[in-house]
Amino acid sequence: MGATIIGTGKAVPAFKVTNHRLSQIVDTSDEWIVPRTGIHERPIATAETATDLASAAARRALGWEAGAGLAPTETIDAASIDLVVCMTLTGDAIIPSQAALVKARLGLPNAVAFDLNAACAGCVYGLATAQSMMAAAQAPGWAGNHVRRALVIGVERMSRILDWTDRATCVLFGDGAGAVVLEWRDGATGIASSFLKNTDDEALTLACGKNYDMSSFPFGDEMVLAGEGPDATAGPQADVSRDAIVHDDHARAVMGSPFISMTGQKVFKFATSAIVEAIGTALDRAGWELADIDAIVPHQANERIIRYAAKKLGVPEDLFQVSIGTAGNASAASALMALDDAWRSGKLHAGDKAIMVGFGGGLTSGAIAFEA
Ligand code: UT7
Repeated sequence: MGATIIGTGKAVPAFKVTNHRLSQIVDTSDEWIVPRTGIHERPIATAETATDLASAAARRALGWEAGAGLAPTETIDAASIDLVVCMTLTGDAIIPSQAALVKARLGLPNAVAFDLNAACAGCVYGLATAQSMMAAAQAPGWAGNHVRRALVIGVERMSRILDWTDRATCVLFGDGAGAVVLEWRDGATGIASSFLKNTDDEALTLACGKNYDMSSFPFGDEMVLAGEGPDATAGPQADVSRDAIVHDDHARAVMGSPFISMTGQKVFKFATSAIVEAIGTALDRAGWELADIDAIVPHQANERIIRYAAKKLGVPEDLFQVSIGTAGNASAASALMALDDAWRSGKLHAGDKAIMVGFGGGLTSGAIAFEA
C-alpha cells in the first residue's frame, strides 16, 4: 500500500527567451550557454502569475483540462482533495500561502493548504511530506487529518529574483509549474522510499536574501549588531546584520540582496555528489537495484550534472529525463515538470520503477523511489 501518483500536469509561460535574446541583454552567447548547461531557451512569465501557472498545471493533473502527461483514469472530485502542498521560492505573496491561493482558485473545499521551501529539491521534499502525512493517517488510532488525496505542486517565477545584469545567473533559470495528484492506494506500491538531507551551506554558495522594508521600523536605535554594540545604520541591512548566519561581507551582501546569487562551481561539486548519494540511498531504502530502474527524473539544473551522474552510476544517459533544454532551471518546479514530460514522451509507463532526485539551496538534497 502506498501513495501513488495518479495524475501529472505542467504549465509554462507563453513567452520564451532564447540564448540569442539573452546575448542582447548581457555578455553571453549560445556558444557558452549550450555546452555548459544544455539550455537553449527558457519560459519567462511576463503575464502569468504563480497562481495562474500552478492552477493550470494542477487542472491538468486533476484531469479537469486536456494536456496531462499522466491523466487520472477517473474524474477527480474537488471535494476529495485533502491537501495542497506548494513548493516555491517565488510565490505571489507571503500571505496567503501559494497553496492557499491555488486552493481558492481551484475551489477545493476540504483541502488543507501550505507552502514548503526546500529550494530546488522542493519536488522531492513535497512528495515525501505528502506521502508521510498519508502514511501517518493509516496508523491505528490516528487522531490527525486524514489525507488520502493530495495535490503536490512546484511553481516558480525565478525571473522575479534574478539580477538581469548578472550573466552568471540570469541565463540559468526559467519559470513554470508542475503538479501531481497523489492518492493513497491500499493495493499499490506507489512511493517505495524517500531520502531527505540537508548539508549546511555556511559559505552561502546559493542564496537569495529577503529585502524587508524597514522604513517604518521604530526601534532602529535599539538594534544591535551581534557583539558590536548599537547599530548606527538601522535599515534593511540592520535587520540582516542581526541574523546569526551573517558573519562576513559576502554573507552580508547576499543576505541583503533580493537577487539569487550562486558560486557555480561549488554548487556544481555539491550537486554531482548529492545526486549520486540520493539516488543510491533511495534505492537501498526501497530494497531495489539500479538495474530495476526504468527512468530517473532529476532536478534540471545542468545537463552536465545529469551526464556526470549517469557516468558515475554506470547507466545510460537516456535513463534520465532531460528537459532543461527548453525549460531552464525552474527550481522547485523543475522535476515535477520533467515528470510530466517523462510520461508524455513515453519514458515512463504504468508499473515502471523510477526515481525522482533533487538538490539545491540550503543545501538540500533527496530522492524518492516510486512505482509509476
Ligand atoms: O538548482 C540548484 C542547483 N544548481 C546547480 O546545481 C548549478 C551548479 N553549477 C553549474 O551548473 C555551473 O557551475 C554553471 C553553469 C553555473 C557555470 O558553469 P561553470 O563551468 O562552472 O562556469 P564558471 O562559473 O566557472 O565560469 C567560467 C567562465 C568565467 O569566466 P573566466 O573567469 O574564466 O574568464 C565566467 O565569468 O565563464 C564566465 N561566465 C560566462 N560567460 C558567458 C559565467 N557565466 C557566463 C555566461 N556567459 N552566461
